[in-house]
Amino acid sequence: HYPAQVSIVEVGPRDGLQNEKARVSTLNKVELVHNLANAGLKRIETGSFVSPKWVPQMADSADVFARIKRNSAITYSALTPNMKGFEAAMEAGADEVAVFGAASESFSQRNINCSIEESLTRFEPVVEAAHKAGVKVRGYVSCVLGCPYEGAIEPKAVAEVSQQLLDMGCYEISLGDTIGTGTPIKTAMMLEAVLKRVPVNQVAAHFHDTYGQALANLTIALQHGVATIDSAVAGLGGCPYAKGASGNVATEDVVYMLDGMGIKTGIDLPKLVHAARMISQVIQRPASSKVANALG
Ligand code: HMG
Ligand code: MG
Repeated sequence: HYPAQVSIVEVGPRDGLQNEKARVSTLNKVELVHNLANAGLKRIETGSFVSPKWVPQMADSADVFARIKRNSAITYSALTPNMKGFEAAMEAGADEVAVFGAASESFSQRNINCSIEESLTRFEPVVEAAHKAGVKVRGYVSCVLGCPYEGAIEPKAVAEVSQQLLDMGCYEISLGDTIGTGTPIKTAMMLEAVLKRVPVNQVAAHFHDTYGQALANLTIALQHGVATIDSAVAGLGGCPYAKGASGNVATEDVVYMLDGMGIKTGIDLPKLVHAARMISQVIQRPASSKVANALG
């Protein structure tokens, strides 16, 4: 019972570059977004409106939004942790925004400097203002399969925060294996807890590939009917507040797997590999994906 098609949310320009040590210029970011659009990605997380002291890599997000040539078929989205971020995202013309919470108290504190409960209170006005402006809000839950500070996380804790974000008005809940420690049976147990409370067509899988488990875990998510997958071209990424978190699962690895399973994505693999090669040159590091290396 696999979905016939999957919607891929490309998070490379945001999740990928937020933790990159090499300086990536605004123009290189813009080129990356264009190359991803050219490869057929329809949802591109383009930047993040967070404190530049916390994440200096995203300080030029407004410029990136200002410089991209838009394709009206593409949703260019941004992270917005609070009203200040939301207002900046609207000013920049983001098509969609995302709030980001966690299933772990310690991670919430380290990442956004407040408790889970406080974070939900901060997200409420963002969701309200977004809906007034006709803008959809995605809700992320981090640490769904493990926390860098607390270790194992109960599936129930993930389900609880997911439901609260859904009830608040988030149209989609993206489940983040922030540090990539998940394995297939744990993934199934976590999803089964969440799917009791959130309709499957409103769930996305956001898996980092730190331990090489992401494709295996995504197969489990697909078997549960999840049809939205977050990934980053070239396997870029990490999280500055999650030590050891490596990149998101690589978009080209996901697309190769889905192509082989007969699941439609609308993405052109050679063009995607081109995008991977270009950004890898910029950061002077080979793409971490198997597929970019095999096809490169
Ligand atoms: P805080 O210090 O508690 O916030 O940070 P504050 O409201 O007290 O403000 C402190 C300063 O930050 C002030 O500036 C504000 O103006 C400024 P100052 O007076 O000191 O010069 N500020 C802002 N500036 C720009 N944009 C804003 C903004 N808000 C306040 N939106 C805050 C709270 C949330 C702002 C901070 O903790 C922060 O920016 N955190 C961001 C962390 C982050 O971006 N993490 C990575 C993304 S999450 C992730 O990667 C996981 C995910 O991929 C899923 C997964 O893999 O699990 C989504
Ligand atoms: Mg992430």
